[in-house]
Amino acid sequence: MRNATLATLVCAGLLATARPASADGDPEAGRDAFHRCAACHSIKPRQNKVGPSLYNVVGRRAGVVDNYRYSDAMQNSGLTWDRETLSLYLEHPRDFLPGTKMAFAGIEDEAERQDVIAYLATLKPELTPDVPMDPYKP
Ligand code: HEC
Repeated sequence: MRNATLATLVCAGLLATARPASADGDPEAGRDAFHRCAACHSIKPRQNKVGPSLYNVVGRRAGVVDNYRYSDAMQNSGLTWDRETLSLYLEHPRDFLPGTKMAFAGIEDEAERQDVIAYLATLKPELTPDVPMDPYKP
């Protein structure tokens, strides 16, 4: 019994340290890294700051939050925010989308980008039942 418990602990430890940088990302670490975004972005539905609310952003079309004035570049981008487009945008916003008004240099570190995206992916109606329904269609 004691050995089995030990083996489980050792296994869990190995799994925790073996996370490759390109894997899906750690939402807990992403929540910490989100402080770089929070000056401009709220995670609450309908709450826009300098940037639009990022509630339910993963899977949503770019430029569709109500009562937010996007750049023409964003409005007409035809993008949908998935892990890939978010990673490209967040790496170098103004290289990926020339004309965007997001004044943010970008996150160079691949693992940190994946962590932030994993955190954004938790901001979903089905995962946040205490938050009022999101009005934005994907
Ligand atoms: C200095 C302010 C600022 C910071 C910091 C910032 N953003 Fe933005 N963000 C903006 C603005 C302004 C826009 C609108 C861009 C446009 O219309 O071209 C935007 C747009 C976006 C969009 C598109 C949303 C939509 O509705 O299509 C995403 C996604 C995004 N930001 C994610 C992030 C993340 C994640 C971070 C942190 C890693 C971050 N931003 C940091 C200001 C900021």
